[in-house]
Amino acid sequence: MELKSKVSIFPSPRPILKWAGGKQQLLPILLSKTPKNFNRYIEPFFGGGALFFALQPDNAIISESNLELINLYRIILKNVDGLIQKLYKFRLDKEEYYNIRALDFQKLPPIEAAARTIYLNRLCFNGLYRVNRKGMFNVPYGYYKNPRICNPDGLKSACEALKKATIIQGDYKGVLRNHAQPGDYIYLDPPYLPVSEYSDFKRYTKEQFYEEDHVELAEEVKRLHELGCYVLLTNSNHRMVYELYNGFEIEVIQTRRNINKKGNKRKGEDVVIYIPPRRYFLISPVPQELPRQVKAYPSTRFMGSKQSLLEHIWNVASQFEFETVLDIFSGSGVVGYMFKSFNKQVISNDYMAMCATFAEAMVANNSETLDKGEIELLLSPSAKTDNFVSQTFQGLYFIDEENVFIDQIRANIKKLKNKTKRSIATSALIRACLKKRPRGIFTYTGHRYDDGRKDLRLSLKEHFLKAVTCINQAVFDNGKGNKARRGDAMTIRLKPDLVYIDPPYYSPYSDNEYVRRYHFVEGLACNWKDVEMQWHTKTRKFKSYPTPFNSRTGAYDAFDKLFRKFKDSILIVSYSSNSLPNQEELTNLMAKYKSQVEVVSINYRYSAGNHGHKINNNNNKVQEYLFVGF
Ligand SMILES: C[S@@+](CC[C@H](N)C(=O)[O-])C[C@H]1O[C@@H](n2cnc3c(N)ncnc32)[C@H](O)[C@@H]1O
Repeated sequence: MELKSKVSIFPSPRPILKWAGGKQQLLPILLSKTPKNFNRYIEPFFGGGALFFALQPDNAIISESNLELINLYRIILKNVDGLIQKLYKFRLDKEEYYNIRALDFQKLPPIEAAARTIYLNRLCFNGLYRVNRKGMFNVPYGYYKNPRICNPDGLKSACEALKKATIIQGDYKGVLRNHAQPGDYIYLDPPYLPVSEYSDFKRYTKEQFYEEDHVELAEEVKRLHELGCYVLLTNSNHRMVYELYNGFEIEVIQTRRNINKKGNKRKGEDVVIYIPPRRYFLISPVPQELPRQVKAYPSTRFMGSKQSLLEHIWNVASQFEFETVLDIFSGSGVVGYMFKSFNKQVISNDYMAMCATFAEAMVANNSETLDKGEIELLLSPSAKTDNFVSQTFQGLYFIDEENVFIDQIRANIKKLKNKTKRSIATSALIRACLKKRPRGIFTYTGHRYDDGRKDLRLSLKEHFLKAVTCINQAVFDNGKGNKARRGDAMTIRLKPDLVYIDPPYYSPYSDNEYVRRYHFVEGLACNWKDVEMQWHTKTRKFKSYPTPFNSRTGAYDAFDKLFRKFKDSILIVSYSSNSLPNQEELTNLMAKYKSQVEVVSINYRYSAGNHGHKINNNNNKVQEYLFVGF
């Protein structure tokens, strides 16, 4: 159902009873946590029903174990006018109070019993409800000056609200087992765990609600969560609540307790726990169709590129509503480009200049391409080259003629006035160098690994021209202001709806150094500015940029910081099974900040809850995971 404001001839219904532990004070927060859409509303510890009366749901089940209360609500529903008449007949004095209190409601006709319930509730001490072992109401007289027993309009509007509810008498478990369905919204307000000697207002019925009952209730809540229900639960701020609902969002609220004798002791703390339905990420056996536009992204062999996992990433992301995406370790830029193709507003970030250049050319760029004249300009012999590549890398990666070509293009790129066009040209030059290089890396010198690939036979110029065409074709406008940023992921200050986190995978057994592999093309992108050349090295590389992802503790801390920084965004993290932190550690880290964490494995799917269960890693092949926090 969708919540809407309702026009009624009656005042908005308020609880009929003053109810110990009534939720009137907490209503604003309870309403703010109520899902916008749900199927049926179920409230099995109904009591005064403050949230029910505030919501007036179209379709509800309300239930209580307390027979007296159930009788009252049934009578309001069936015969509200008769009840009103009865209420007017009561005398408002102590003697009458004790006479009425002495009656056994079970022996009274139901309408008399209902009138008695309201009468006692209005006149008794602090609206307390307490019974003795025999089930007899035993709260003393409250000495109110002018208690209002009958509020006819209030009763009539309550009657209207109750018309849309099924009223059940019984234990909450049976009600939930028999009626809860996926998509239902369930508000649970059990008798609170006692936090002080004064908290004896949990005695609603002659049966107590003990700690074991709270354990059982928490199990039921988890069942509801698995089933796909929205659950909202209130309790006292008791240590046990944190154990029972570990992993869910627990909010502490300061409240006044009306039932305490001493005014100054009436302050208390309630907790409100929101348990969203568990989502299931069913990786469809047929991968999702991506827009054709995605295929326009030039193929890439960039280390760790997720080009082949785009369907899976989209399959998970598409289950959320979001507009803005931060691809915070953008690498080749392909993931950001995929999101751009789905008309999301994308910000791509990477601390390598080459990655930021790709993103500037194809993610942030909605319109610019290189035209024929500009391509000719780029290819023309340039008098003013610095010969940096020819001199520094002579004999290392390319032959002299190719190095001269690279230097010329570098010099000509500077002649392009438009920054975006310069990024297209630089991306094309980088792409050409990567294609022409056996294995596409610069960790070795010479021409080992020449496997006779066709790419290695093409000239650098042919590669460059092909790359310009590819990049030009990848440019499109998705109508959004997309951005490319070069910088450390840890320094970003943004609040995107979704953050895709694909950092270097840390493993003690392999290195994940991007700069070491790509220093030559990274140099082309940054013009070897602000880098620390290691002139003594055979490869003429420069010092790697500092990143926390080159040690176990560094990676652990960095994930923690990123999850905290983006705790309000949907998080999707790519990581693999042979990296550290391991799956369980990463799940737990994410669960510190997100109420729900799921792990999707790419080859086979299983989900791991984050509720303190041990997560088994029963697979010894390397698995690609997507960790999803929301
Ligand atoms: C696994 S790759 C990302 C691959 C990318 N998702 C793709 O599909 O091509 C990791 C990237 O993180 C970048 N990186 C490493 N440390 C970084 C940091 N501290 N801040 C920003 N980027 C960083 C690397 O430059 C590299 O491009």
